[in-house]
Amino acid sequence: MPRTLIAGNWKMNGLMANLAEVERVAAEVPASSEGAETLLCLPATLIHAGSAKSEGSGLKIGGETCHANEKGAHTGDLAAEMLKDAGASYVIVGHSERRADHGETDAVVAAQASAALRAGITPIICVGETLDQRDAGEVLTVITTQMAESIPEGAEAAAIVIAYEPVWAIGTGRVATSEQIAEVHTSIRNLLVRRFGDAGRTTRILYGGSMNPGNAAEILAVAEVNGGLIGGASLKAADFLAIYRLA
Ligand code: G3P
Repeated sequence: MPRTLIAGNWKMNGLMANLAEVERVAAEVPASSEGAETLLCLPATLIHAGSAKSEGSGLKIGGETCHANEKGAHTGDLAAEMLKDAGASYVIVGHSERRADHGETDAVVAAQASAALRAGITPIICVGETLDQRDAGEVLTVITTQMAESIPEGAEAAAIVIAYEPVWAIGTGRVATSEQIAEVHTSIRNLLVRRFGDAGRTTRILYGGSMNPGNAAEILAVAEVNGGLIGGASLKAADFLAIYRLA
């Protein structure tokens, strides 16, 4: 069983979540912890300072996206190596909000994940269907395509993390049922094993979408769920820590 990963995604929530929350989380996560691995993916402006606050603890810091290139004339963008230099050891790629807001295709996501791997940080590759796709019975087709095209060639199974985030469950309070999560996570596991052989069992598969302290235990108990990618409930240290403790 891969080690559970409890990851927060702070997104762009203004000044609502700040370094004091990072400090609160770090204070409760010992460096020696054998429990779940804990990660906060922060806005780029907080990564450097957040890393300093988490030093000496078991809390890891990540970014929310990265550019596919190492460097170049890309105003406003950040290369994976720059995130690493600021203290990130993970980066989310292919979040549905990036796919929708910035037109990031599977090919772009694969290139970003590849850039992260080259920089020595772990990409969390997001996949997930929209409500229309679910209603049309296309869930597994969508996931199969995203899995085939968003994971870069040459990636090793243990060096990547997959996050299943049904778009209709993000920030809506509408959580996928255990059956829906089990169906998709089992399919993702099968796709990983088909691609990587037995090593495909070492890839962590996270669930994301309205996860909170009240539903986390049930979600984390579902087959092939190896952790969570948590948005809203990661903004307050108390809620995020409550999920971490359940894991
Ligand atoms: O990446 C995390 C995510 O999109 C889920 O957000 O607010 O529904 O937990 P939320």
